[in-house]
Amino acid sequence: MNSNETLLEKPTQAMMPVGRMHMPDRKFIEEQFPEPVMPACAINKVLKGQKAIVTGGSSGIGKGVATALGHAGADVLVNYTSRAEEAEKVAEELRRCGSRAITCKADVSKEDQVQAMFKRAIEEFGTVDILINNAGLQKDAPVDQMTLAQWQQVLDVNLTGQFLCAREAIREFKRRGVRKDVSCAAGKIICISSVHEVIPWAGHVNYAASKGGVMLMMKSIAQEVAPHRIRVNSVAPGAIRTPINMQAWDTPEAYKDLLKLIPYKRIGEPIEIGRAAVWLASDDSDYIHGATIFVDGGMTLYPGFETGG
Ligand code: BGC
Repeated sequence: MNSNETLLEKPTQAMMPVGRMHMPDRKFIEEQFPEPVMPACAINKVLKGQKAIVTGGSSGIGKGVATALGHAGADVLVNYTSRAEEAEKVAEELRRCGSRAITCKADVSKEDQVQAMFKRAIEEFGTVDILINNAGLQKDAPVDQMTLAQWQQVLDVNLTGQFLCAREAIREFKRRGVRKDVSCAAGKIICISSVHEVIPWAGHVNYAASKGGVMLMMKSIAQEVAPHRIRVNSVAPGAIRTPINMQAWDTPEAYKDLLKLIPYKRIGEPIEIGRAAVWLASDDSDYIHGATIFVDGGMTLYPGFETGG
């Protein structure tokens, strides 16, 4: 066994999604398709020595990514806005696995708070190698009833927040340059986008606009900073079992409806976004730049065309 290879991922409390869980509609699955089997993946310490910031790391996808980065050997700053105890639980889990982990309250849409968060990470860890631009929210409403405040808040957090964090990360990556013993790149930025960077979403125009914006922001930054050996990519999740979309999976009826949009016929789990983020942050993906990796069970494959057309 490779000395980097330690254990198989077993979901711990910190990795488990919040809220009620239920199995997919068994009859529906058994009648038509093989039952989903969840992967058991070896954990390699591919991020050993690297320092990461995960925005919105106290819950949902951010929690899954922070956990995966820590398991892969990174030291992690777990950012949060309101749930200090939840962020502390995530940090605890990472310390249990041998990583250094701190929590930091900051609203990513506020320039001064973002700058203070990076200062804190650099004071604690010496530098930052990986930024996971994850913090995001939804404020849904029909377009003609959407308030300017609902539009603005989603754009401020989901898009401006990612810009402010990316800017600080790039300043630090350029200042420090490549640490060859740690990574081929001077730094890695991973934007957590959404299938809605390409799929229009009625009733969610603020959210879809913010994610469409993330797509071209990510690619434009990637084009600009590539010569500095800074890698910039996105992970675009589909339906992942988190509190943000609980109404889409927490009853058998809702879950059955959701599966109509997912060719792979199961919901995703936060740790699966975490695994993609670990790979994108590691030298295993050193030549991947300016790309969006969809982690969506095929949601972007126009499932409405499974039949007909
Ligand atoms: C949204 C979820 C939604 C998923 C698929 C995500 O970006 O945050 O609420 O379930 O896209 O539509």
